[in-house]
Amino acid sequence: MAVQINPSILSADFARLAEEARAVEGADWLHVDVMDNHFVPNLTLGVPVVESLVRATDTPLDCHLMIEEVDRWAPQYVEAGASSVTFHVEAAAAPVRLAREIRAKGARASMALKPATPIEPYEDLLPELDMLLIMTVEPGFGGQAFLDIMLPKIRRTRELIGKHGLELWLQVDGGVSASTIERCAEAGADVFVAGSAVYGAADPAAAVHALRTQAER
Ligand code: DX5
Ligand code: ZN
Repeated sequence: MAVQINPSILSADFARLAEEARAVEGADWLHVDVMDNHFVPNLTLGVPVVESLVRATDTPLDCHLMIEEVDRWAPQYVEAGASSVTFHVEAAAAPVRLAREIRAKGARASMALKPATPIEPYEDLLPELDMLLIMTVEPGFGGQAFLDIMLPKIRRTRELIGKHGLELWLQVDGGVSASTIERCAEAGADVFVAGSAVYGAADPAAAVHALRTQAER
């Protein structure tokens, strides 16, 4: 289970996105939070910005779609050049069909669960996915406090992945920092999104390195 660190550009300076993307070039993926002001009460960026970011960095893009009608829009993010596309199950009309479409278009398919959404009803969907994202804050904003009560869900999901012998990556997003990443890793997460903990640091690349070292302990 290799540790991966994905800085979230939600906490970067949006007027200097290319530079901010390059500031974390030791990271495994760049996490791009797409919000539509409907699924979550915040608005960020869309397909044109993703297309530009793909050209601005060699780091692959991990697009986290916090949008309604995601069945309709997610394929466009693959076409824009995202290497991994995450949809929220709460927003998807047909999650299996959507995961298959994302994979068929050539990206990794990932499904996200809000804090109040349990994993158990989706056990049979896991083989359709390349990654599962467990939100450790309510989606919408960076800089929120980590929800400890999500640790049992991370643990149970890791057990289900093991039970089915899957290669699925298990991502956590929200409040991941030097003080919470070890608990997430211990519970079974292997892909860590960090916004404020990376872009709030004086040296974002050093923050990525430090988080990786902690998660690998
Ligand atoms: C929140 C986003 C996160 C956010 C995390 O809805 O999905 O990716 O950027 O920010 P931090 O790491 O500051 O909690
Ligand atoms: Zn995110």
